Amino acid sequence: MILAIESSCDETAAAIIIDGQIISNECITQIKRHSKYGGVVPELASRLHAECIDTVIDIALKNAKASFKDIDHIAVTVGPGLEGSLLVGVVAANMLASQLKCPVIPVNHLHGHIYSAMADYSYECPMLACIASGGHTMLVYLKDSLSFEIVANTMDDACGECFDKVARMLGLNYPGGPFIEKAALEGNININLPHPVKHDSDKFSFSGLKTAVFDLVKRYETVPVHDISASFQDHVGQILLHKIQQSLDQYSCKQLLLCGGVFSNKHIRKVLMDNVSGVDVIIPELSLCTDNAAMIGLAATQYLKSFKELPTFVDVQTRLGLKLPKELCNGV
Ligand code: KG4
Ligand code: ZN
Repeated sequence: MILAIESSCDETAAAIIIDGQIISNECITQIKRHSKYGGVVPELASRLHAECIDTVIDIALKNAKASFKDIDHIAVTVGPGLEGSLLVGVVAANMLASQLKCPVIPVNHLHGHIYSAMADYSYECPMLACIASGGHTMLVYLKDSLSFEIVANTMDDACGECFDKVARMLGLNYPGGPFIEKAALEGNININLPHPVKHDSDKFSFSGLKTAVFDLVKRYETVPVHDISASFQDHVGQILLHKIQQSLDQYSCKQLLLCGGVFSNKHIRKVLMDNVSGVDVIIPELSLCTDNAAMIGLAATQYLKSFKELPTFVDVQTRLGLKLPKELCNGV
């Protein structure tokens, strides 16, 4: 049994995973506390994690009808994410592990997104994974399980961040994605937007798109919020589709995985499901697209299967070329 803990941004989350199955998956979201500031306030986030982490772990255990003594491993996100927020999860994991005398498995948050559909689908490599979240937009080629090659990355903003900023320009709430999706239901796709770095298969860029919406909004006395939302959301879907298709033409893949918060958008899911050709498309259920602890437990399950020995912080840090501050993970 794995107790998984996720606290990299604004969700305090814990889950119980047994043999790759999600037994419980609980989350205390901080969204309401940050929304009046229009984005996540890092200091507030870490304080709220510290307040809620015990409770969310208790709920995850209770809903799994389990107790502390049943836990074999504790999996915890070690990055990337907000340093203070990560620290709360890592300290909680280390404290519990020292009491329960069980090992801690450090997990890369992006691996969590990549393995988020693992309980419902069997993965077949080679596979292309598209991560589109508030902090990342990348295409990752998995030649084999746990063998990652970044084939496209954003040069500037992340896709979800662009949703959040555009929503703010339109007077919509934080986080922008779900509010733009709702506003788009009453809008038409009738506004042209730019497609930056269209011909570079290894790059995404979203800051110019953000500026284009900013300039557009200034032109109106009454801003057509619904039409801009519908056009923007569809346009992001087309950008992701174009870049994914470019990579699929270069890399032969059996499956395409779509993961991260942006793929909880039903219109974007449909654009990709209807138009990507030549591969099986896998998308996690909605609750597993945005940050959650189950995905961290699923990635840890994958580590346990693939690593001969328990993974160390260094193993996890070196995957995807990520450099995480060492002091975050003392003792892990
Ligand atoms: O994966 P996630 O929960 O956290 C990160 O790892 O960043 O992604 C959060 C991002 C936010 O920027 C949010 O606006 C976006 O995902 N998002 C959406 C939707 N729901 C969340 N974007 C578009 N449509 C949605 N329905
Ligand atoms: Zn995430």
